[in-house]
This record gives sequence, C-alpha cells and structure tokens, in this order.
Amino acid sequence: PLTTTGELVTRAAAHRSAVASFNIITLEHVEAVIAGAESADAPVVLQVSENAVKFRQGRLLPLARAAVAAAERAAVPVALHLDHVQSDTLLRQAADAGFGSVMYDAARLPYADNLAATRAAVDWAHAQGLWIEAELGEIGGKDGQAVPDAHAPGARTDPDRARAFVADSGVDALAVAVGTTHAMTTRTATLDHALLERLAATLDVPLVLHGSSGLPDHELAAAVTGGIAKVNVGTALNIAMTGAIREFLTDRPGAVDSRGYLTVGREAMTRAVMGIIEALGPVPAE
Ligand code: G3H
Ligand code: ZN
Repeated sequence: PLTTTGELVTRAAAHRSAVASFNIITLEHVEAVIAGAESADAPVVLQVSENAVKFRQGRLLPLARAAVAAAERAAVPVALHLDHVQSDTLLRQAADAGFGSVMYDAARLPYADNLAATRAAVDWAHAQGLWIEAELGEIGGKDGQAVPDAHAPGARTDPDRARAFVADSGVDALAVAVGTTHAMTTRTATLDHALLERLAATLDVPLVLHGSSGLPDHELAAAVTGGIAKVNVGTALNIAMTGAIREFLTDRPGAVDSRGYLTVGREAMTRAVMGIIEALGPVPAE
C-alpha cells in the first residue's frame, strides 16, 4: 500500500534501522524496486529527482501516477518522495502528484541563503502536510559534475552548524555529508564514522545518506548502526540495468523486441534492490 516517507523514516529511526529510498527513472525502475522490496519483505521509498523530471520531458505526473498506482498495489508499504528539488515550480507540484515528502536542495548556496530558502520551503511543505528533508554540507557529484573529493575541507557537515540549521529551518530530516559522493560507479567510498556519530548525537531529526551507491555492504550496515535512517540509492540501479542490457544485446545483435532487454534490465535492478535492503537490515513493522 501507499504510505509516506515520514511514517517510514520515523519508525526506522525509532528502531535505529533505515529505510532504503531508490531513484526511479523508468517504469521498469518502479517495478523492480517494488519487486525487490516485496521479495525482501521490507518497506521502501520510490524517489523521483528533479533531474529525472527533466529526463521525463519536464513532466512529473506520468511517472508519478504510475508510481502511485504501483505503490497502492504493492504487498509492502511504499512511499513516494520528490528528491533534490531546486525549482519552486516543481516543489509546488509535489502534493497534487501524490508525493508525501520532498527533499529541498539548496546545499550549493552559502549557509545563510541555504537556510533562508530551506525555511521558506519548509513553511510551504508543512502547510501542505508534506514531510521535508534538506541538505547541509554539500554531497557533490550531481548533474554529471566531476566527481568531487568527498574528503575536501568544507564538504562535510559541521555538527554545530547542523544543529542550528535544523532548529532554524524546521526540517523533518537532514541529509549529511559524511564521506559519500553521488554517482560513484565503484563501491569504494568510506564513511567518516566519527563525524556521523557526532551528528547523530547532536541532532534530534533523522539523518539521511545520499550517494549510497558508492558504499560496500559493510559500510551500508555501519551507516545504519551510526544513525542513518534513510539511505538514498540511484546509480547502483543504473549500473545493474545497463550492465544487464549491454550483455543481453552483445549476445544477441539481432534482437529488436524491447521487452527482451527491458526484462533482463528489470531483473538485474530487482536483485540490486534486494542486495541493498539486505545490507541495511530489517525495519521493524511497528
Ligand atoms: O538522492 C539520491 C541519491 O543520493 C543517489 O545517489 O546515485 O550516488 O546512489 P547515488
Ligand atoms: Zn542525493
């Protein structure tokens, strides 16, 4: 059934567990994430990024409607989240399109501007009944930017600043920069465990990890132990899908039916979803 991110993350955080949140781009992503979550018997979040909306020719509704329909029929709780929103126009479409939550992304801005923009987004979101996440300390690597150095000074989330940011903005959850980078194609990232521990001890909102495709299984598990309650994964699904399709088509140069390669692509994504959910461990049902 369809649920909300707030519901799932609140429950996950209360049990020091984490809910997985996967980027969806195509209908095959929607089907694969739900199939993987059903196989693992775990709740899941489907997230649509602003970049995915651009890919969908600027239209949010067709993919959102499909995701809502799939979520309503799922055997596990499924939430819909609008991710990395920078555009106010897109932000304002969230509730009508069936999203229960948004991530407002002003982390590229200087602190005071990030805070002011986030505060305004929080006021609007809460008036709509939406759960809202924001980011402090930039997690780089979006939009095909050169993959930055996640260990560069300034790239990390400072705990004292984060405490002030959460209090002054009113956000429901905070995305923190603790060593991950978006769009990594190898699982070689390492977490700053000491910083994560300080952030978890300092902040009273659930913490969100972005760029989680770059982490090996043991670091995913350590992130949950360290206090992360929502784990965002995108690139890992594209690696799985594209790799499977490439292999299928390389073996069958004469193939023309799109269902052939989309089937293997979807199956590979389903396995990737199951692997990540298993690495994170269970989210108690109550
Ligand atoms: O918000 C989305 C995630 O941070 C995805 O990052 O594609 O590096 O897994 P990833
Ligand atoms: Zn992200």
